[in-house]
Amino acid sequence: MEITNVLEYEAIAKEKLPKMVYDYYASGAEDQWTLQENRNAFSKILFRPRILIDVSKIDMTTAVLGFKISMPIMIAPTAMQKMAHPEGEYATARAASAAGTIMTLSSWATSSVEEVASTGPGIRFFQLYVCKDRNVVVQLMRRAERAGFKAIVLTVDTPRLGRREADIKNRFNLPPYLTLKNFEGLDIGKIERTNDSGLASYVAGQVDRSLSWKDVKWLQTITHLPILVKGVLTAEDAGLSVQAGAAGIIVSNHGARQLDYAPATIMALEEVVKAAQGRVPVFLDGGVRRGTDVFKALALGASGIFIGRPVLFSLAADGEAGVKKVLQMLRDEFELTMALSGCRSLNEITRDHIVTPWDPPR
Ligand code: FNR
Repeated sequence: MEITNVLEYEAIAKEKLPKMVYDYYASGAEDQWTLQENRNAFSKILFRPRILIDVSKIDMTTAVLGFKISMPIMIAPTAMQKMAHPEGEYATARAASAAGTIMTLSSWATSSVEEVASTGPGIRFFQLYVCKDRNVVVQLMRRAERAGFKAIVLTVDTPRLGRREADIKNRFNLPPYLTLKNFEGLDIGKIERTNDSGLASYVAGQVDRSLSWKDVKWLQTITHLPILVKGVLTAEDAGLSVQAGAAGIIVSNHGARQLDYAPATIMALEEVVKAAQGRVPVFLDGGVRRGTDVFKALALGASGIFIGRPVLFSLAADGEAGVKKVLQMLRDEFELTMALSGCRSLNEITRDHIVTPWDPPR
């Protein structure tokens, strides 16, 4: 049967993947309240569509950090994509390129920056988890730069790994035939097999819990690439990100995998946008599954959105073709939403095109 929306891929992935892998991809932290809320919150925002506007031509193009892309829909970093499909990150990179959009490669990818670069041209960002050993960080930066990556997505919401109980029950481990390719040759590529969650123990060992704002400044001394701070949920941290020299902010709760009862990202977005005061672009990820979700995020001031799980689930279902289809379906739905709202270009999408539960009555 034909797949007609992004959400349908999850059930297919669940059927195809080993339980340990599906659970790792699908899970949120603890009660998974935030996981549900990332979706639910979108459904509380409604439209105020405008009519009788000539929408025979719709332009979805935009520029992110100066890079032209075909639509404001991009790919978030997700770890270990080869567990979903043998082509893993290669397939994702090709699908993103074909769609004319940006792929973010995870630090914890099962393909290296060089391997992803070898798939052909494309605008790619590199997501960074800062390791305790700063030499490793310097080496990773050099490699990402040489491989032509255009920006660093610095993940700041993971000083420790959130508690994902399914991973603990399943004793989640990277399958032995896969490695974290970006760390190969750096002597930290092997996840220790412990009787706890192997990933948790690895991250506990390597991710630097002492990471702070001064490190955001330090990063700028070792790379010329612009830095997007990923994991901002408050006005306070939006202000500090700008002060620390960030080129952009990603409003994210890590797909609800870190702090449970953190707000849905679509709820936190407007506060962050206001605090950024247009000094840097603000992006969002978390729960985006429909073109209407993309529109709502843009109406609240986002410059674009990123998708995480839809890539993993479609990759599991159908490899590169699956990821292409996800990007195409979101693109088509977003275009339709623009048309039915009376918007011909992204800058015609305004706050007045939506109504939220926190708006005063008109
Ligand atoms: C992630 N995410 C993530 N983020 C990051 O900065 N580095 C990483 O390696 C990963 N890995 C990862 C694995 C899996 C399985 C998931 C589901 C998520 C978070 C990711 O970048 C993004 O913030 C969320 O996935 C967005 O939410 P949705 O689209 O999955 O709802």
